[in-house]
Amino acid sequence: MTKLKLNDGNRLPRLGLGVWQIPAETTARTVAGAISRGYRLIDGAAIYGNERGLGDGVRDADIARDQIFVTTKIWNDNQGFDKTLAAFDESEARLGLSPDLVLVHWPCPTKGRFLDTWRALIRLRDEGRVRSIGVSNFLPDHLERIIGETGVTPVVNQIELHPHLQQAELRALHDRLGIVTQSWTPLGGGRAFADPVIAAIATRCGKSPAQVILRWHVELGCSVIPRSSRAAGQAENIDIFDFTLTAEEMTAMATLDKGKRIGPDPTVFC
Ligand SMILES: NC(=O)c1ccc[n+]([C@@H]2O[C@H](COP(=O)([O-])OP(=O)(O)OC[C@H]3O[C@@H](n4cnc5c(N)ncnc54)[C@H](OP(=O)(O)O)[C@@H]3O)[C@@H](O)[C@H]2O)c1
Repeated sequence: MTKLKLNDGNRLPRLGLGVWQIPAETTARTVAGAISRGYRLIDGAAIYGNERGLGDGVRDADIARDQIFVTTKIWNDNQGFDKTLAAFDESEARLGLSPDLVLVHWPCPTKGRFLDTWRALIRLRDEGRVRSIGVSNFLPDHLERIIGETGVTPVVNQIELHPHLQQAELRALHDRLGIVTQSWTPLGGGRAFADPVIAAIATRCGKSPAQVILRWHVELGCSVIPRSSRAAGQAENIDIFDFTLTAEEMTAMATLDKGKRIGPDPTVFC
């Protein structure tokens, strides 16, 4: 699997395992299993309640730590400069390792603290506590504010992105700013699995609808973090690097956009 180059020079695997809703008591086994199947990126967050298991899974895997990319996120309640620094310490202690990437989980514009939160991440990066810093669920005005005020561009904006919410304008802005788009809920709750456009591509390629959708994310230039707690699901989801979609198929996929979110609206969620 090739990696995406981040604007700070570090490299991010194109595909990883998301661990939202993986029970804390099984996370270590799930993560170690995924790593044994070739996953090199694990996407976690403090709010998922399973950072301890994530760290244990990375340690249990028979792979050098520097071969695995670990992400965590600062939860909304911990926004603000000092609280973010303390929240990072707590995440690091639970993980038992230094994450490679830390994200501001949501902008929470009504709180008005995302700029201070971002400044805290810059401090952590400058102190060498974390290699890369980024954001999640940020809209254009939030990105412009933090970049304008600090001169530091996030390496990643992790956003809801799937066939029914294609985010073309935000992706184009990311491209202009040098930000990697990372897709969350990339399978879109399976809502597009039976779509005839996806079914036809799946038949041509001899792949499943889920694999076609994940490959589509990669073709868009995104990093993608599907979750599966099943060994077979993990193996299926990473097996997308031996086929491509044609230009016509990418055009057909673009027609599936409904601009419809499954998750919360970043303008109000906090
Ligand atoms: N930054 C944010 O605000 C944010 C928000 C939401 C999610 N995320 C991140 O994004 C990750 C992925 O999003 P997600 O967990 O919401 O959804 P997802 O990865 O799009 O879908 C997960 C669901 O699809 C099923 N599934 C996985 N692979 C499948 C396959 N090949 N065929 C059929 N079904 C399959 C899984 O069930 P099985 O386990 O049974 O396979 C699970 O129910 C999260 O885990 C989290 O790390 C971030």
